[in-house]
Amino acid sequence: MTIFSGKHIILGVTGSIAAYKAADLASKLTQQGAEVDVILTPGAEKFITPLTFQSVTGRKTYTDADLWGGQAHILHVGLGHEADLLVIAPCTANTLAKLAHGLSDTLLTITALAANCPIMVAPAMDAGMYEHPATQANVKTLVERGIRFIGPAEGRMASGLSGRGRMVEPAEILGNIRLGLARKGRLAGRHFVVTAGGTQEPIDPVRYITNRSSGKQGFALAQAALDAGAAVTLISHPTGLTAPVGANLVEVRTAQEMLDAVLAACETADGLVMAAAVADFRVKAVAKHKLKKRDGIPQIELTAAPDVLSTVARHRGGWSNLKVVVGFAAESRDLLENATSKLTSKKLDLIAANDISASDAGFAVDDNRITLLYADGRHEILPLMPKTEAAGAIIARAAEFVER
Ligand code: CTP
Repeated sequence: MTIFSGKHIILGVTGSIAAYKAADLASKLTQQGAEVDVILTPGAEKFITPLTFQSVTGRKTYTDADLWGGQAHILHVGLGHEADLLVIAPCTANTLAKLAHGLSDTLLTITALAANCPIMVAPAMDAGMYEHPATQANVKTLVERGIRFIGPAEGRMASGLSGRGRMVEPAEILGNIRLGLARKGRLAGRHFVVTAGGTQEPIDPVRYITNRSSGKQGFALAQAALDAGAAVTLISHPTGLTAPVGANLVEVRTAQEMLDAVLAACETADGLVMAAAVADFRVKAVAKHKLKKRDGIPQIELTAAPDVLSTVARHRGGWSNLKVVVGFAAESRDLLENATSKLTSKKLDLIAANDISASDAGFAVDDNRITLLYADGRHEILPLMPKTEAAGAIIARAAEFVER
C-alpha cells in the first residue's frame, strides 16, 4: 500500500518533446498503485502514441478521436469528476494559455474545465516563451486560481539554448503529485522532525568516526510523515539518498550539530522521530592537521557526545506543541529489556526496537522487524516488513498522540 494505491489520476500530455518523459511518469505512477488515465492532445500525438501509454498503464489512453465518439458527451465530465488529481505534464505554452482563458477545444482542455479535482501543471517550453509577458500573465492567473505549478526547471532545451523552461524530471513530478495527494492527510497542518543516518565525529581534517546506519529508515519515516500531510524537517548526515520532495533537509555531521538542529526544529514541532544512530562518543581533542604516519600510532581519547533525546527530555516542558517523541533502539541482545530502559530514561512516548543481529533486518538492508513499546506499558510486534511500510506504521502510531 502506498499513498497512490487506488488513486485515480488523469495525466494530460501535450505537444512537447518532453512527452516521451511523460511515459516514464505514467509508468512510475502505475507502479506505485495509481489508476492512470492518459489524455493526449493532437500535438502530443505527433510526438508519442497512445499505445506507449496503454502499454505502461494497462488502461485505455484517450485522444481527440474519443472527443467525437459516441460517449463524448459524458466522457470529459466523467473523467474530470472521478479523478483525485489532474496533472498536465508536459504542458505547452499553448495549453497553458487555453487553461488560463477557459478554452476547451481538445478533450484535455474540456476535461480540465469540467474537473472538480486539484490540477497540477509541469510546463515545458522554450525559455523565451515561458518568460513572455503573455505566458507569465497566464501563469499568474492560473496560480491565483489554485493551480499548482511544478517547475519549469533551468537547463538545456530542445532548441539548444539554456534557460528556464525545461520540464521537471518525472521523479520530481511524482514527488510533487505525492505531496498534492497528501494535503488533506491526518497530519495536515502539523510539523514533524525526523532524524536519519549516522553522525560523523572528526579525528582530524580528513578522518572521522561513523557507523553503518544507511539513513533508509529515517528517510522512509520522513516520506511517511509527508504522506500523512505533515510539514517535515529531515535532519541527517550526508547519506547519498535523495530527500523526499517537500522535506526541508538539514544536513549535519556531528552529534552536537544534530542536537543543535533538533533543538531549533522542536520549537515548532508537533512530533520528533529520532531514527538517527547518533554517536555516543566523540574525539576529545580533534587534531588541527592531518595525523601523519611518521609520528607513530595515535592514541585517540574519546569523550561523551551529547545525547539528543536526553536533552530534548530536559527541554520538553517548555514546548507545549511537542506531543510525541519517538526513539529507536537498535540492539544486538536483550532487545526488550534494553529498549524499555531507553524508553524510560529518555522519557519517550514510544520506542521502536529492532534486533540488528538478524541478517534479514536492521542496518543497511531494506527490511525491518520492529517491536513498538509504549510509555504506558503496551507493546505491539510488527512483522518483518519493508522499511517504507514500517515507517508508515510508526508515523500512524505517532499521529495518534498528536490527535489526542
Ligand atoms: N540517541 C540520541 N543521542 C545519542 C545517542 C542516541 O538521541 N547520543 C537516540 C537515538 O536516536 C535513538 C535512541 O537514542 O532514538 C537510542 O539510541 P541507541 O544508540 O540505541 O541508545 P544509546 O542511548 O546510545 O545507548 P547504547 O548505545 O548504549 O545502547
